[in-house]
Amino acid sequence: MPKAGEVAQIERFFAGVDAQAGTRFMLDKPFSHDDCPRYLVELGRVLTLLPPPPARVLDLGVGMGWTTVFLALRGYHVVGQDICGDAIELARRNAARYGVTTAEFAVTDYESMTYRDEFDAALFYDALHHAEDERAALAGVSAALKPGGVCLAVEPGEGHATSAPTLEYVARYGVTEKDMPPRHVIDVARGVGFRSFRVYSRDLEPTPVLVADLDARPAASRAAPFPGRIATSLRFARKALRALLKGTCAEDGQQLFGTPVPKPEPELRESAIIWMRK
Ligand SMILES: C[S@@+](CC[C@H](N)C(=O)[O-])C[C@H]1O[C@@H](n2cnc3c(N)ncnc32)[C@H](O)[C@@H]1O
Repeated sequence: MPKAGEVAQIERFFAGVDAQAGTRFMLDKPFSHDDCPRYLVELGRVLTLLPPPPARVLDLGVGMGWTTVFLALRGYHVVGQDICGDAIELARRNAARYGVTTAEFAVTDYESMTYRDEFDAALFYDALHHAEDERAALAGVSAALKPGGVCLAVEPGEGHATSAPTLEYVARYGVTEKDMPPRHVIDVARGVGFRSFRVYSRDLEPTPVLVADLDARPAASRAAPFPGRIATSLRFARKALRALLKGTCAEDGQQLFGTPVPKPEPELRESAIIWMRK
């Protein structure tokens, strides 16, 4: 049965663990997970990329709903949906635990949604790569967004589906796992009505950004010392001679005349935060 693994995953998880400890682990995400720093940093980045609250946000594939709770506490009006009824039951408990009143939850398939022009933004957090048909999912989101609405997808890149932990997860839970690199997401999204795209790295580095290191030694003087000037002039003269005799390359133009070197198209294979506007 299609998507049976997704629907049954919470039941399967609880079959192998102590119920109370398992529930705590689930409800306390992100704090109960080793990846907590990453989750918090990434959700902070998501907040910088969403329109400001009180925008209406469609949160897709929310599992136990930690992102929905965070967004609601930040002041968004959120609909959190997931195909797994047991997960949404936990998500509702989670929202009640934090006194959240601006979130609704729905047990639906994000590949067959019927929302029309009603959300300012949508978020797939680690969820689109579980789609059987990501085109249907993105088409549903495009229809659900108001004109100018934004969709964020925080997804793994190439190599995810064939990594050892993923294969083990698929064997245990029977869920769909795919690579979902930015290049693919953008190609699909362009076909269903999205027009502008930006891609942000999921790397945690450089975090935090170093503004000052007061232990560092004072910066060296900016003016090049006399021998430096001679060396620089000789280097340019050598380049000019080589250009005369052997022809020029893009780097010469850039160094001698400041001509911009065309940047190659990025391959966009890595895990990323993808920003797309309808
Ligand atoms: C890796 S979990 C991420 C959950 C949550 N976003 C989080 O960060 O904890 C992926 C979620 O996507 C949900 N999902 C998979 N396919 C779906 C579909 N077709 N419609 C709705 N939800 C789906 C799964 O049930 C699961 O809860």
